[in-house]
Amino acid sequence: MFGAVSGAVSGAVFGGVLEGVSGAASGRAGAIARASPVVTPSSCYATAPRAARRRRERRDPARPHTPGRVMIGAHTDPGGPVTEPSGRAPRIAVVFYSATGNVAALAEALAEGAREAGAETRVRPVAERAPREAIEANRRWKAWVDDNPYDTLASLDDLEWADGLALGSPTRFGNSAEQLKAFLDTTGGLWAQGKLAGLVGTSFTSASTGHGGLEATILSMNNVLYHWGALVMPLGYAADPSLMSSGNPYGASWVSRKSAAPDDDALLAARVQGTRLAQVAAKLIS
Ligand SMILES: Cc1cc2nc3c(=O)[nH]c(=O)nc-3n(C[C@H](O)[C@H](O)[C@H](O)COP(=O)(O)O)c2cc1C
Repeated sequence: MFGAVSGAVSGAVFGGVLEGVSGAASGRAGAIARASPVVTPSSCYATAPRAARRRRERRDPARPHTPGRVMIGAHTDPGGPVTEPSGRAPRIAVVFYSATGNVAALAEALAEGAREAGAETRVRPVAERAPREAIEANRRWKAWVDDNPYDTLASLDDLEWADGLALGSPTRFGNSAEQLKAFLDTTGGLWAQGKLAGLVGTSFTSASTGHGGLEATILSMNNVLYHWGALVMPLGYAADPSLMSSGNPYGASWVSRKSAAPDDDALLAARVQGTRLAQVAAKLIS
């Protein structure tokens, strides 16, 4: 059992709680158990919140931990009352990567749906990072890059500005494209300040085949949202009756086959996702 958790229980994450346990994790469970109190993964998890509370109370004894207070990020003062209603339209950022235009079409439809629900929107691609040779080798990719229909790239400011965020990427070997991931990997500073924890986020994709990893790609983008502490919003089926036949409850998806552009059903699903995102974001800031 200890062997199985060796990767997960790094001292850096659990700090003092796991001091001395790394040997157990690498298979020397017996020796460690004799030398120090028995620490199992489950008791670590049980202990961690108590330790965190003690640390918090040491930092600010006047503000003891009160169970039930919820920090959702920029719109909430941790431990204090929810701030005043913003009185403004929800802000939706659509941040995506597209090599041949399919995800871009979904991104535009999603933003349109958000605007229909009264949101302000920013639709922003992330930077292309592929070597020129790779782009030149694909006629449609080269045409998209050469046309360059967007003059403003996604920035960290877009994430700070937004109440709701939609992430889009083509499926790449069952995962999101590295271009999007590279952008997301620049958000550590915002994450550390808790500035992304107030977002509601959702994801969408395009793949060439129906079983080529659509859901896996959406889930991989959502993993980032979990780490930020954002609220993850699936598309579901309930928002529009048409989704029962054409939708993907994980998020808007398109199966492009050889190179077809998103059809009306896929664009409608993206629009519905945008509307729903704007509605949830509006509730968060109200
Ligand atoms: C390197 C690479 C990997 C891909 N991996 C997959 C895959 O795992 N499954 C799949 O169905 N399609 C895969 N595709 C196809 C794209 O996901 C598909 O063409 C998508 O519609 C492109 O979206 P875009 O026009 O926004 O770039 C891959 C394409 C490339 C270039």
